[in-house]
Amino acid sequence: MSQICQMCQKESPNHPITQSLISRLRSAQRVVALTGAGVSAESGIPTFRDAQTGLWAKYDPTQLATPEAFARNPKLVWEWYEWRRALRHDTQPNAGHYALAALAKHVPRLVVITQNIDGLHQLAGSTDVIELHGNLQRNKCSRENIVIERATARPTAEGLLACPRCGAYLRPDVVWFGEALPRDALERAFVESTQCDVFFIIGTSGVVEPAASLPRYAKRAGAFLVEINPEETPLSAIADVVLRGKSGEVLPEIVRRLEGGD
Ligand code: OAD
Repeated sequence: MSQICQMCQKESPNHPITQSLISRLRSAQRVVALTGAGVSAESGIPTFRDAQTGLWAKYDPTQLATPEAFARNPKLVWEWYEWRRALRHDTQPNAGHYALAALAKHVPRLVVITQNIDGLHQLAGSTDVIELHGNLQRNKCSRENIVIERATARPTAEGLLACPRCGAYLRPDVVWFGEALPRDALERAFVESTQCDVFFIIGTSGVVEPAASLPRYAKRAGAFLVEINPEETPLSAIADVVLRGKSGEVLPEIVRRLEGGD
């Protein structure tokens, strides 16, 4: 794991800034971790924007992840989400997910704010997770915007599922481009971000709003910002500590140090 100090720009696994992070965590009352697709990459779930392997390098989001795409071709959109559900079904949380769940035992309060829809944080044991972009496993009515259990849905002639109340197609309960985020989740995310002592930015390219603004709000409110990502992002410049590595390696190391491993 290589670590770069934002103050001196030197790389060192034992740089004092690491100690300053550990001391911050030891005295922190509230910790927030904003996560993105990178945290699930080591589970085998592709990210969105990594060149070559990212989903948006292979697929056109305007054809698959917008309300217009669903109105145009609901079957195609469903095929894409059924594929992603199958992919998720075959994966497990990785060391990064487990380490975040373990970190919660070392601080009074840890809230995970995730842009991921895969539910892997919860599966790893994180109990306070704010899902900004919905959840891949849930369905909702495309007209009434209410969650519908699959067992109660009506099959349609086209091989899709319909709302038992109004007959509109069911759709995955995820946020598509051009749609608003779930209001409660977003409001809570802003409150938690502006009240925390340490704010982790993990595995996100930091280019999708409003999630990308949360670290800036946190910083303005006085939080200590820590980025964990193998690549530079637009948020690297405002981070107090940048840990250039994979979350599945860096997070367990942080927990090990917190537990007094060195
Ligand atoms: P991106 O694909 O934009 O960014 C993934 C980030 O993870 C990149 O910065 C990678 O460098 C980093 N990364 C890759 N492997 C990693 C690892 N092992 N450990 C840590 N970091 C790693 O994904 P998001 O930022 O999550 O929205 O994308 C945000 C939103 O854009 C998604 O929620 C999705 C997408 O369009 C919707 O679908 C609404």
